[in-house]
Amino acid sequence: MAANDNQGLLRFITCGSVDDGKSTLLGRLLYDAGTVPADQIEALKADSRRLHPDAGDALDFALLTDGLEAEREQGITIDVAYRYFHTAKRHFIVADCPGHEQYTRNMATGASNAELAVVLVDARKGLLPQTRRHSYICALLGIRQVIVAINKMDLVGCDEQVYAGIVEAYRELAQTLGITKVDCLPVVAPGGDNIGVASARMPWYRGPTLLQLLEAADAAPTRAADFRLPVQWVNRPDQSFRGYAGTVCGGSVARGDEVVVQPGVERAHIARIVTADGDLETAREGQAVTLCLDRELDVSRGDVIADAAHPAPIADQFACHLVWLGDNPLLPNRNYWLRIGTRTVNARVMSIKHKVDVNTQAELAARKLTLNEVGYCTIGVDAAIAFETYATNRTLGGFILIDRQSNATVACGMLDFALTRAANLHWQHVDVNRTVRGESLGQRPLCVWLTGLSGAGKSTIANLVEKRLHTQGYHTYLLDGDNVRHGINKDLGFTPADRVENIRRIGEVAHLMVDAGLIVLVSAISPYRSERRSVRERFAGGEFVEVFVDTTLAQCEARDPKGLYRKARAGEIRNFTGIDAPYEAPENPEVHLPTADTRAERLAELLVTQLLPRIASQP
Ligand code: ADX
Repeated sequence: MAANDNQGLLRFITCGSVDDGKSTLLGRLLYDAGTVPADQIEALKADSRRLHPDAGDALDFALLTDGLEAEREQGITIDVAYRYFHTAKRHFIVADCPGHEQYTRNMATGASNAELAVVLVDARKGLLPQTRRHSYICALLGIRQVIVAINKMDLVGCDEQVYAGIVEAYRELAQTLGITKVDCLPVVAPGGDNIGVASARMPWYRGPTLLQLLEAADAAPTRAADFRLPVQWVNRPDQSFRGYAGTVCGGSVARGDEVVVQPGVERAHIARIVTADGDLETAREGQAVTLCLDRELDVSRGDVIADAAHPAPIADQFACHLVWLGDNPLLPNRNYWLRIGTRTVNARVMSIKHKVDVNTQAELAARKLTLNEVGYCTIGVDAAIAFETYATNRTLGGFILIDRQSNATVACGMLDFALTRAANLHWQHVDVNRTVRGESLGQRPLCVWLTGLSGAGKSTIANLVEKRLHTQGYHTYLLDGDNVRHGINKDLGFTPADRVENIRRIGEVAHLMVDAGLIVLVSAISPYRSERRSVRERFAGGEFVEVFVDTTLAQCEARDPKGLYRKARAGEIRNFTGIDAPYEAPENPEVHLPTADTRAERLAELLVTQLLPRIASQP
């Protein structure tokens, strides 16, 4: 493709490790592009002489890019460094990421908005597992063009056969990964061969230099076809103006076009396309605009304005790839925030189909994903969303998962396809609902959730409360953690993943029972705030009462009614709450029961007093 077709900005990523000569190659590239100012070149000369006194006037180009202190100290590159440079032909942003496997998350971050990758291969070593890993992550994050820089050619005698062998092997790899455009070239980074200037040492190579390839590359090879604009905010300065601001993330739109506001079905025509520099007739991918419609619709942040003739698909369950970025592992069934486009919804990973060995792409069975791992998962969101597959549109097909407690980004994800099952399942409306059932039972249904350490006294108190309520004619049910584990949760143990699922299922059963009109008492350690909060959100306001049975670890251990603490201390039981597994005490329970100086009967009485006003049916 002719260079002048691609004047735009090119974002690319460099993949390789210090051993491959990545820093040197990048430094040389910046130098040859004429980006390095004269004073920095002087400093480079001085530093090079000081660090390599035997190397004469040779420059150590790695010093130009090894900017981070820690990098120099540890001899490895960390984090993602973005560098800007330009030539006469175009501007570039290069994401320089570390290559080791423990930095997969950094690479995924760097690759997520790059259009091209420069993959470094050491001519002496050929393709290594890391070459496969780097290429796989790039392909996974949607990069379809790769430049393979086969470096250190001087160390293999500038041999064309060695070069040809590596080219052939890489093309084969690229094909299996779906990388459609591959350019290869032989380089010697320190000498600058084929970086900015053609190599005199390798006359057999007549192709373009690295800079020429970068200048000619297609900056938007995966441009999405259909018009999409995720609404960033609703601009409504006064009654006379209402516009929807956002960045076009696919296709283009013209004044007069018919659009649909998704996930809804309402349609309108584009009345105006407003920008700070005046109105436009059309807007295309990448442009930030404010759209005005020809009629009033209910549009809010997170909605997608789409081509009415080619709307985005809508779904609430998906198959997707996840790259886990969090320090804590992914727990299936835990709730996370999912942000896609400008929309944030509650989501949970329903299953991990497999995880992927990033070095070999082998599919392995997995129950959790840890930092830097890649998995293929099914995910469900609480509200149907407009989406695209990641291959079609990176903005509406790519998402992040956010931890609901810490607000940290814990994963990036790529939607593969929608699972249609959910689209065919509807909530069946019933006329005999829980209010009606509660009324006929003479009570208002409620879920009373007792949480606390093992041996804290939860079950004892719950049992006493149930007896009292029952005596007073209320209809109750006690769901006890230990008992439930003999039946519906027989398959679950005490790993974090199993506890998340244990609490989720107990929550769902309690929810059904509340729906049946009952007063449900739950007694379960339920050690995680996140899951207790998720259960709470299943219930309508006022239908969930969290009770913290507050007994210190020392007291529980002294009582040790089941002898389990002794076993846990002896190492006979693993993952025991309070010993080698965490308990996250409630921050704002409706009822707090410190047990130290009060007998269970009195505590039960206190709790009943608090519950009665909530369950007594209204006159
Ligand atoms: S939860 O953490 O998943 O909510 P749950 O309340 O269902 O736990 O079950 C806890 C009960 O299982 C404890 O009261 C104890 O009798 C028993 N148990 C067996 N192993 C463990 C363990 N490793 N940690 C905590 N409780 C355990």
